Amino acid sequence: MQIAMIQDKIVPVNEVEPVYFDRGMFFGDGVYEVMRSYDGKIFALEEHLQRFAGSLSSIKISGVDIDLIRSRILKAFDAAGIANAKIYFHITRGSQPRDRVWNADLQPNFFLTVSAVADNTEEKTQGITVSTFPDWRWKRCDIKSLNLLANVLASTDAASKGCGEAILVDGAGLITEGAGSAFFAVRGQTLQTAPLSANILPSITREFAIKAGRNIGLEIVEKSLTVEQAADSDELLVASTTQDTVAVVRFDDKVIGDGKPGRYTKLLTREFLSFTV
Ligand code: PDD
Repeated sequence: MQIAMIQDKIVPVNEVEPVYFDRGMFFGDGVYEVMRSYDGKIFALEEHLQRFAGSLSSIKISGVDIDLIRSRILKAFDAAGIANAKIYFHITRGSQPRDRVWNADLQPNFFLTVSAVADNTEEKTQGITVSTFPDWRWKRCDIKSLNLLANVLASTDAASKGCGEAILVDGAGLITEGAGSAFFAVRGQTLQTAPLSANILPSITREFAIKAGRNIGLEIVEKSLTVEQAADSDELLVASTTQDTVAVVRFDDKVIGDGKPGRYTKLLTREFLSFTV
């Protein structure tokens, strides 16, 4: 008899719930999205759906109807009745006994949660501290893949140091992005961030932060920063769906500016928030 064991219970394999054979579980074989609403309105829904379609296509999961995904999101968002909601969803390739090669006829698995966005008023008012960590990720960080082990290790390292985010540094000493955010520096009249490449996620918030930066008169420079340049910047900030834009007031041991959110970060955040209403 083929058996499985779940915690300490032996179960015949044919009675095991398919979720235990989810390829997302075995291999992180799936892709995800996180979007949020502001006061009852989902922000950048189409941009997120477009990125999701790109992620699916990059890992060769085909046949997913994006219109159906949109309608599921709207239905769940409506059912939850949370005005400032975080909507998480993923699609895995499907369930099958563990094999690196996938079966051609798999049905993708869909999972979604709606929860309240964590309140980050304190972070927004006071800024956050960050710590650097090696970028150990694979070479296709532009895909929003469920494989987040390197990010998990980096984020947990930062949290253990009392920091709000880990900033990932590649083998050449260049900053790619945060473990869960895009990373920006204000240097003089410029807003600098890493260029889009396979090494970073094409963050939706990054795009809107760039637009906000331009609107407040900053010149945009898409060029990777070294750790030294970042530490020596006038202002630093991180950007992500769940946090929008948050000032970084300490970078490893270096206090940034006067240790409070800087002028441009505040202006940029205000401009960014005007896009969400
Ligand atoms: N993470 N870079 C990484 C590695 C990320 O995981 C995220 C977001 C971002 C910002 O992307 P966006 O602006 O599209 O949210 C950049 C989400 C929020 C998460 O994994 O929960």
